Amino acid sequence: MKVVAINGSARKGGNTAILLRYVLGELEKEHIETELVELSGQTIHGCLACRKCSTRKDRRCSQENDMGNVCIAKMDAADGILLGSPTYVADISPEIKALVDRACLVSGANGGIFRRKVGAAVVAARRGGAIHAFDSLNHFFLITEMIVPGSCYWNVGIGREIGEVERDEEGIRTMKVLGQNMAWLLKKVHA
Ligand SMILES: Cc1cc2nc3c(=O)[nH]c(=O)nc-3n(C[C@H](O)[C@H](O)[C@H](O)COP(=O)(O)O)c2cc1C
Repeated sequence: MKVVAINGSARKGGNTAILLRYVLGELEKEHIETELVELSGQTIHGCLACRKCSTRKDRRCSQENDMGNVCIAKMDAADGILLGSPTYVADISPEIKALVDRACLVSGANGGIFRRKVGAAVVAARRGGAIHAFDSLNHFFLITEMIVPGSCYWNVGIGREIGEVERDEEGIRTMKVLGQNMAWLLKKVHA
């Protein structure tokens, strides 16, 4: 089994990446293969609303000049998907929003390519708006018929400068429990 984590932060190796790595670490302990993809420094465009995905039905977006199809293909191949975002003005980053929009339409155009995969959101924030960003990511999982495990709190870590989330003990514990619950659920789904 494999879980792919996609980090929508503009900062490579930042707080969102740190939080995602805690979740991935628990999955690896359960012998689940993992991969972290960072969108930082990469190009990803928003949905063009061209609807070509609906006519082509090839599990791809019509835009071939950026990271969109790279991520969609990895998500399509994985058993579990983690989407990570920093909180930007009380919402998700434009990079992860671009991916969510395109992946959502590609999924619908192809009969639900993410149906019954396991998915979870991870959010970093300095102070406020994280729950709104968390909700935004969960909208994607739920409309694509994915199964979402919970944790001991909503999956948020608090910190501003890179590494500050390490001091958020409850946030780190939340990520570890999320990883444990995701591994448990993946094994049940694939039993
Ligand atoms: C454009 C921008 C907007 C931000 N807006 C918020 C916000 O609304 N609420 C908040 O708590 N933090 C906000 N932050 C702070 C980041 O969410 C915080 O530093 C987070 O840890 C960054 O994660 P990263 O290291 O993965 O990039 C903002 C940061 C940037 C660059």
